[in-house]
Amino acid sequence: MTTLSTYLNNATHTDNATAVSNVILTIADVGKNISALLRRGALAGILGEAGNENIQGESQKKLDVIANDLLLEALSSNPNCAGVASEELDNSTAASADGSLLVLFDPLDGSSNIDINMAVGTIFSILPYNNQGQSAVDDDFLQNGDQQLAAGYLLYGASTILALTLGHGVVMFSLDPDSGDYVLIKDNIQIDKDTSEYAINSSNHRYWLAPMQQYIDELVAGKDGERGRNFNTRWVAAMVGDVHRILCRGGIFMYPYDTKDAKKAGKLRLMYEANPMSFLIEQAGGASTDAINRIMSIEPTNIHQRVPVVLGCENEVNRVRDLHKQHNPA
Ligand code: F6P
Ligand code: MN
Repeated sequence: MTTLSTYLNNATHTDNATAVSNVILTIADVGKNISALLRRGALAGILGEAGNENIQGESQKKLDVIANDLLLEALSSNPNCAGVASEELDNSTAASADGSLLVLFDPLDGSSNIDINMAVGTIFSILPYNNQGQSAVDDDFLQNGDQQLAAGYLLYGASTILALTLGHGVVMFSLDPDSGDYVLIKDNIQIDKDTSEYAINSSNHRYWLAPMQQYIDELVAGKDGERGRNFNTRWVAAMVGDVHRILCRGGIFMYPYDTKDAKKAGKLRLMYEANPMSFLIEQAGGASTDAINRIMSIEPTNIHQRVPVVLGCENEVNRVRDLHKQHNPA
């Protein structure tokens, strides 16, 4: 049996290996607490809106706020962590000035699933800190996805799973509820180049750009259309769940650009959703693009910036990108 700590002890893939391992263990530990709270659900008084009172008259905190606070507190007291940025915080928070790492996270992805007892997750990205000795600021986080030293997610589903990459393949651990250990369940995960399964919120069809409409229309037409074979939709409504399915059995996930809110470049966040998921998918042999450019090559200008996301099996991702390029030749 290989546990997360044994795996990390044996992995010497990054210059900063010990620090990276230490930070991953901190995140994984907090994941145990979040997982335990989710298991108790309504009984833990953590469902509903922040500021509400539960039936016993106690004030409730939304679970995404609790998850954020737990991660922030644990990482801030990890000496390897120089700063933390979260979907729940407007600005980054400086931690240990001597730390060598920055951590970005989405504390609870798929929040519309929390109150209905469906899968949610925590997504994280670990970057090097290049100004050791000084207090970390937002600008220190603005590094492209290729700089990531490690990335992964915790999926709180029927079981709790940790998927992880240190830049040398993707591994998965399952949390043993009896021992409290994360136990290695899959090594060297690879996804096929082709798939018949796609994930997208089709209710946005009328807001998509023409090439995205064309791509989905082809999939929907199935064996009677251009593609000559049938496709099937799966949509968890939590990116972490859809990416997990793709790592397990392939597929393509899309949250493309749409004109629903023209001010937003996409729905998902580059630095703590798209980049860590792209790192995992590429490490598993898949591809990830904003429909034109490779996501991990995008130079960020804001820690909360949004980006269109198309990721998963290489041949389908390339088809989406080619359709967009045909419509917008450079
Ligand atoms: O974080 C944003 C998110 O919750 C993703 O996890 C998920 O893929 C998406 O939004 C769901 O969007 P929609 O509400 O359009 O189904
Ligand atoms: Mn999210």
